[in-house]
Amino acid sequence: MFTVNMKTPPFNSHPQFREGLPKLPVPPLQQTCEHYLAALTPIVDPEELNHTRKLLEEFQKPGGVGERLQKGLEQRAKKMENWLSDWWLQTAYLDYRMPVVVHSSPGVVLPRMEFSDRQGQMRYAAKLIAGVLDFKSMIDNETLPVEYLGAKPLCMNQYYKVLSSCRIPGTKRDTVVNYTLDKRPPTHITVVHNFQFFVLDVYNSDATPLTVDQIYIQLEKIWNSSLQTNKEPIGILTSNHRNSWGKAYNNLIKDKTNKESVRAIQKSIFTVCLDAPIPRVSDDMYRTRAGVQMLHGGGSRWNSGNRWFDKTLQFIIGEDGTCGLIYEHAPAEGPPIVVTSYLYRKKSEMVRTPMVPLRMPQKLRFHITPEIKKDIEEAKQNMNIMVHDLDMKVSVFSHFGKDFPKSQKMSPDAFIQMALQLAYYRIYKRCCPTYESASLRMFRLGRTDTIRSTTIDSDKFVKAMDDPNTEKVALLDKAVKAHRAYTDMAIRGQAIDRHLLGLKLQAIEDLAALPEIFMDTSYAVVLHFNLSTSQVPAKTNCVMCFGPVVPDGYGVCYNPMDTHINFAVSAFNSCQDTNAARLAQALEDALLDIKTLLEQTPKANKAWSRQSSEGEQLLII
Ligand code: COA
Repeated sequence: MFTVNMKTPPFNSHPQFREGLPKLPVPPLQQTCEHYLAALTPIVDPEELNHTRKLLEEFQKPGGVGERLQKGLEQRAKKMENWLSDWWLQTAYLDYRMPVVVHSSPGVVLPRMEFSDRQGQMRYAAKLIAGVLDFKSMIDNETLPVEYLGAKPLCMNQYYKVLSSCRIPGTKRDTVVNYTLDKRPPTHITVVHNFQFFVLDVYNSDATPLTVDQIYIQLEKIWNSSLQTNKEPIGILTSNHRNSWGKAYNNLIKDKTNKESVRAIQKSIFTVCLDAPIPRVSDDMYRTRAGVQMLHGGGSRWNSGNRWFDKTLQFIIGEDGTCGLIYEHAPAEGPPIVVTSYLYRKKSEMVRTPMVPLRMPQKLRFHITPEIKKDIEEAKQNMNIMVHDLDMKVSVFSHFGKDFPKSQKMSPDAFIQMALQLAYYRIYKRCCPTYESASLRMFRLGRTDTIRSTTIDSDKFVKAMDDPNTEKVALLDKAVKAHRAYTDMAIRGQAIDRHLLGLKLQAIEDLAALPEIFMDTSYAVVLHFNLSTSQVPAKTNCVMCFGPVVPDGYGVCYNPMDTHINFAVSAFNSCQDTNAARLAQALEDALLDIKTLLEQTPKANKAWSRQSSEGEQLLII
């Protein structure tokens, strides 16, 4: 779990501090080839594996293609602060052409607030805005505490990228802009209500931030001048396929007023979405409904037009106490976003302040030509298809949390991942390529690599679990340790996925023919992540949600707390083979069955396991 060390000298979080962090290494070629074969073993058939083995032998030959590309990568690593980060930003995000909604931007459901009316909604919004401004001042004054993973400081660069930034669509690739270091950095946020956008200046002329009281009054003015609900949901354009949105964007900003309005949104510090009320659901359904409200807004009839999905950070506040956010993924990962959402919420109650008359927040105007109207209609239709297609289940596993695996001397994350492997195997009778994000923030400008949760050992364990005649506990123990070992390897920059990507991109950059290992069926199979998973831990009782990354896959995000675990499972309705609620149930059963298995095993039989797990503890940083 990431920890925030308040004792660290404040200047340490400044981007310059990253100078003191190690550079991301390039793993040895032979190591990656060996681990790649091991990762393929449980997921491709023996014939395919043999074919890939031969290709890898050829690739690794002394003086061969692999060696040449590896040298190229090592040179790149010498010259650059991080050999991967620019490539990763480009390939994983800016070149990705699917809509950011559901396919890329994660949502976060924050704990439900105790209000159920407009006043409560605005009071909370005012406090939240003031809280974010406090957080911004920590960024501006370079007093943001450094995070640690064990004893190792983490790169804080992502924190400096989430405010005052926005993705800009292109017809072939996107860009991302950040206005923090502008000559005149932004002093406003955007607020959207009933699909209408407003510029809200959040600083007084003496550069002090508005108080909660002042913000509340400004929000009331916004509310009262956006009562009409028949406005064109201009923001829904941002939910479209990126090429279509890129084309529509060029058309939209031909008009000077539109261009200025769009620029005001892009340049704002962040966006606050005051959502229209949505139908109430039972307590049981509430979390799932909140999850989809954060991810897509419910469709064109509800709140999907009440967003600018390109904006890096958008807080969403519903009238019924539903709170959360959605963020555009290009600049940052989930953990910094969730940690900051925790910092924001520390803002105290409203304080009455002397009333200085404030300017009316400026409503952003848009001229809607017939062509823009057509683009909006198309985006609405596509959004509604996406909304119907998303199958989501947000649940709380309340039987135990991190406490139980810890009591068994097991890594909680590895324990949960093994339960997921078991759940998937029980449904499909096979293992699948599984992605778990691993943080590379121990390195300068580090983002993520992949922990491959399906291993030879996990495969043996899941096959044994429902077989009465095998030594399940020993196999579980081995599988958990294999997962933790892969995790340690990944966070130290020694995993295979980004290295293989780097070798491939190096070949493209050298304008050389793509090595056969990248045109091999195994490579396509290993990247088809039927399970795309991530642990996003938080001190608050929140949960992050995201969509699957393949049409026949699942997205699974979890926040393990001490005594319970929050899960968000997603799938697509258009795939007949997947079902989010079914996987969520299978996961719950798997967690309970593994617990029962461990409890039923006499302590003496586990003694060997405890010894070796204590030894392994040394590996955990
Ligand atoms: N016995 C007892 N306790 C153990 C243990 C063992 N064998 N192994 C681990 N633990 C403890 C740890 O000390 C830790 O304690 P804490 O709760 O006091 O912090 C806790 O159990 C959790 O450890 P573990 O479950 O192993 O996971 P982790 O916190 O090391 O996290 C990752 C693992 C992979 C999630 C993390 O390294 C990571 O990379 N996170 C990034 C996620 C990310 O970027 N997501 C992007 C989303 S967009």
